[in-house]
This record gives sequence, structure tokens and C-alpha cells, in this order.
Amino acid sequence: MYSLRRALTGDGEWWMDLRNRTDAIAVSGSQEALPREYAVDKFIDMVRKPGEFVFWIIEPDAGWIVMEYHDPWGTISIYLKPYARGQGAGAMAIKQMCKYAAGELGLEKIWANVREENISSSSVFTKCGFVLSSTNKSLWNFTWEPKE
Ligand SMILES: CC(C)(COP(=O)(O)OP(=O)(O)OC[C@H]1O[C@@H](n2cnc3c(N)ncnc32)[C@H](O)[C@@H]1OP(=O)(O)O)[C@@H](O)C(=O)NCCC(=O)NCCS
Repeated sequence: MYSLRRALTGDGEWWMDLRNRTDAIAVSGSQEALPREYAVDKFIDMVRKPGEFVFWIIEPDAGWIVMEYHDPWGTISIYLKPYARGQGAGAMAIKQMCKYAAGELGLEKIWANVREENISSSSVFTKCGFVLSSTNKSLWNFTWEPKE
């Protein structure tokens, strides 16, 4: 029922509205809203740099998943609108991204940085094969490696 498509530059305003929701700020690394101009520019930058970012929209209108990568490692971030949570869309998107990263991009390790209070995120990454590799204050670092 949920599917993935590549993000387009025209998704910038939509993404910024999601990125600056209170619940999205709460789970973000910076813990801050992004200024409008900066956010849209940052998004366009991400979408236009296929050698550094893989940015997918989770359809229909459910959220987004992005991986920033510098061979051989990548880092995943994901956000789903509240109505789309708890139905398997997160696990589906993360598994697809890992498969793409290992298969198409040849990456050897993927990171996910999760705030310690974010139980649903820790659970979904664990379900997708990530393991807790370190903690740094309130940030938990999970890693995934392709099976040989
Ligand atoms: C975290 C998030 C991506 C999870 O996606 P989701 O689609 O809701 O999760 P899924 O339905 O795929 O769940 C997969 C597994 O995760 C676990 N899980 C999901 N939500 C959970 C919750 N609220 N509490 C406990 N476990 C949970 C379950 O083990 C579930 O497996 P099951 O379906 O066999 O029970 C999504 O809830 C979200 O976008 N949250 C807000 C933003 C966020 O926290 N992003 C991550 C920042 S690091």
C-alpha cells in the first residue's frame, strides 16, 4: 500500500513543512527548525546531488527517507506523518534503502542516529537488521552491514 519514489526538486516546500513539524524537530539531530530559505535550498541541494544523497518520498503523501553517503558508509534519516506510522511503511522504506545502498551503491555500512527516547525508531531499525554500536550522550548509533 505504501511505495517509494525518488524526490524531485518540486517537493522542496512539502518537505520543509514536514521537516519543521514539532515532532520532526524533536527527533532531528539539530533539534531546531530550519529557516525556510535554507531548508528549501538544502533540499534542492540534496536532490541534485545523486552522488551524495538518495532521497525518496514515501507515497501516498506519507513521509520521506534520505541517505547521505560517502563511499563506503551512509547515514539514514526517515520521517513518517503520524497517520502512516505503525503499518510497516518505515520498515519497508529502510529495508529498500539498505538493499539499494548495498546493491547499487556498494556501501559497506549504514548508520542511523536515534535519540534514546525514540523507542519506535530504535525498534524499527532493529527489526531491519541494525545493531546498536555505540551511544553518545542521548544519541544511539545503530549500524547495518550487508550479509556476505
Ligand atoms: C520511526 C518510524 C520511521 C517507524 O516507522 P513505522 O512505519 O511507524 O514502523 P513500522 O510499522 O515499520 O514498524 C516496524 C517495527 O518497529 C517496531 N515499532 C514501530 N513503532 C513502534 C512503537 N511505537 N513502539 C514499539 N515498537 C514499534 C515494531 O517492532 C514494528 O514491528 P512489528 O510491525 O512487527 O510490530 C516512524 O514511526 C516515524 O517516522 N516516526 C517519527 C520520526 C522518527 O522518529 N524518525 C526516526 C528518526 S531517527
